[in-house]
Amino acid sequence: MSHSRAVLVTGASRGIGRAVARAFAEHGDRVAVHVRSAVAEGESTVASLPGEGHALVTADLGDATAAAELVARAEAALGRPVTVLVNNAGIATTPALAHPPAETSATEWQAAWEEYLRVNALGTAMVTHAMTRRLIEVGLPGRVVSIGTRGVHRGEPEFPAYAASKAALHSMDASLAVALAPHGIAVATVAPGFVETERVRDRLDSAAGEAIRADSPFGRVGRPEEVASAVLWLASPEAVWTSGATLDLNGASHLRP
Ligand SMILES: NC(=O)c1ccc[n+]([C@@H]2O[C@H](COP(=O)([O-])OP(=O)(O)OC[C@H]3O[C@@H](n4cnc5c(N)ncnc54)[C@H](OP(=O)(O)O)[C@@H]3O)[C@@H](O)[C@H]2O)c1
Repeated sequence: MSHSRAVLVTGASRGIGRAVARAFAEHGDRVAVHVRSAVAEGESTVASLPGEGHALVTADLGDATAAAELVARAEAALGRPVTVLVNNAGIATTPALAHPPAETSATEWQAAWEEYLRVNALGTAMVTHAMTRRLIEVGLPGRVVSIGTRGVHRGEPEFPAYAASKAALHSMDASLAVALAPHGIAVATVAPGFVETERVRDRLDSAAGEAIRADSPFGRVGRPEEVASAVLWLASPEAVWTSGATLDLNGASHLRP
């Protein structure tokens, strides 16, 4: 694979996505920075990237048609087919979206499941389908790396639909690793524990912060750059044999020996 790959990082307005975009740009790749609506933040991500040829693309992954079209728009913006896709965008565990079953009405429960599955599972599946079909069409090898979560394995009692939507992603990646290997496409998943992004800063600074940090015997949470360096490696030619794997990135806060 050439040193300047065309990489699409979804959800790169901030947090883990922005760090992933930076890692690929520092490696010499050309990055399509995707956001849903945070255009100013996306532009600031693009402006912060070393190298040239990077671009901003927008799409609401809650709209399956828009999600399916995103890859073609990224290709047009980068001037070459996307050969690395990082599925990072998603609705995460914001307190306002909590839906613990004992305190959630049937209507709220249904709304949470529909929203998490529509964006995190269906939207991501549409992007991935479009990207991998295009690679098969043009005869190029490629990589897909998805950001899953530790919650798939440990449970998310306050956010069951979130964990299930990410479980769909873990499972899709395993199946695609098998289905797409004959086409030279490797697919892997990372399962981060708590990561210090802008979105969770309030929680880390609150009274709950100490317990969250104590989850790991390192006494801290993960950093976006730690996720980004793992994703960069998983997308490297050296890591093709990780296809089908889920890499835990949780500072020994949840073990699956
Ligand atoms: N932070 C953690 O502790 C942690 C732990 C495990 C896994 N993860 C996963 O890692 C990923 C990034 O986490 P983060 O904390 O960096 O997230 P974040 O700060 O909430 O950023 C989420 C990104 O996804 C985009 N997005 C959200 N809904 C979207 C939609 N409907 N269509 C298109 N894009 C959408 C957002 O775009 P806009 O800004 O334009 O809305 C934003 O760029 C998420 O998938 C999350 O589930 C995070």
